[in-house]
Order: sequence, then structure tokens, then C-alpha cells
Amino acid sequence: MGFLTDIKTIRARARKEINEGAITPDYLLDTDQVCKILNEALATEIVCVLRYRFHYFMASGIHKEGVAAEFLEHSKEEQAHADLIAERIKQLGGKPEMNPAVVAERSHSEYVEGTSLADMIRENLVAERIAIQTYREMVKFFGEKDPTTRRMMEEILAVEEEHADDMADFLFAVEPDNIDKTSKLFFPDEVSTKSDAGRKVETENAPASQKKPSNKKSSPKNKLAKNKSAKKK
Ligand SMILES: [Fe+2]
Ligand SMILES: [Fe+2]
Repeated sequence: MGFLTDIKTIRARARKEINEGAITPDYLLDTDQVCKILNEALATEIVCVLRYRFHYFMASGIHKEGVAAEFLEHSKEEQAHADLIAERIKQLGGKPEMNPAVVAERSHSEYVEGTSLADMIRENLVAERIAIQTYREMVKFFGEKDPTTRRMMEEILAVEEEHADDMADFLFAVEPDNIDKTSKLFFPDEVSTKSDAGRKVETENAPASQKKPSNKKSSPKNKLAKNKSAKKK
């Protein structure tokens, strides 16, 4: 079959199946199943938007300003993730599920308020870890069969790893005495090498040879100071 015939057939079929939107017949996955999986990710993101937003308003204590600014930023980023996922569900012919009752049921992470700033940070870290694990499974599932959705989830996953890292830094900043407890919240093999999460946090007294090269934008202390000065302006 010549190339032109192929193109003609493809065009004719595209016209005939115009109602299928972005889904061409060579799509290798079950779109119902894909939309179901993506709706779980969407629910997770929506719950994260609300939890971070709640924490933004409720944060208190001496580290409040810096941490609250980060909570707000994360909330906005989770909303952007929710929008991307909803858009993709729509492209695949599904319905992005935004019914609050269903969202609460399907979310992988929980909506936990927390009673102190450290509690809030810890809850967010737990939620991020859950998202990281389930999103990584999704990336594997989409694999080569749906590279568009896989790439989207990979990009979101990278941001969740940054979020987890930010929360781990803050937890250390607000609870330095609890480092043993907090370092056990997650393990290095649970997060990719891109993130510092789970690695031993360096201390001022550590010998230079033990210090890892830092490629981070800023330390938790700098971040706190940066956010504080940004707010003052
Ligand atoms: Fe997210
Ligand atoms: Fe996140």
C-alpha cells in the first residue's frame, strides 16, 4: 500500500471518527481505564490544592510567613496539575470528575488539617510521598502506549518530588531536634535522584568530606528568609 493511500485512509477515518477527538484508532490503551486512572490523579491534586490552601491560611508560629508562602505556591502548582490532568481526560473523551463527594473518595492522599505548623508540614510530606509513589506507577503504566499522558505525569511527578523536598527541608527547619523521627518519614529509594528528599541532612558541624555538593536553589533557612523579605516588600 502506497504512502498516499495510507494518508487518504487515515484522513477519511479521521473525518468519520471526528467525534473521538484526539483519540485515533491506533491508541493502544483502554480510554475508559485511562480516564479512571487519571481521575484518581485529578482527585489527588484537588485534595492537595485544598489542603495546602487551608494550611496557607492557618499557618502560625515563628516560621509562619516563609512556610505559608510555600504552602500557597504549592497549592497553586497542584491546581495547575489538576488543570493539566482534567484537560487530558477531556482529550481522551472522558469526563473530569470534580464532584466533591467523589473526589474525596478517589483521592490517593488524605485531607488532614494538622494542629501545628510541624503537623501541617508533616501531613503535606506524607501526601506528597503518596502522590510520588502512585504517579510513578502511572508513568510505568502509560509507558510507550500513551507517551503524551506519560510525559504529563512525569512532569507532574518531578514537581511532587520538589514539593516533598521542600516539606522535608521545612520540617527540619521547624523541628531540628526531631530529625531522627522526620528522616524516617521516607526513604531514599522512594524518590528519584533528582530530589534530595530522604537523604541525610547536612549539619553545620559535619566534616567537609561528608557534605554533598548542593545543587539546590536555597537552603530551608534561606528559603524562610527569602519568603519573609518578599512578603515585607
Ligand atoms: Fe500536584
Ligand atoms: Fe505536590
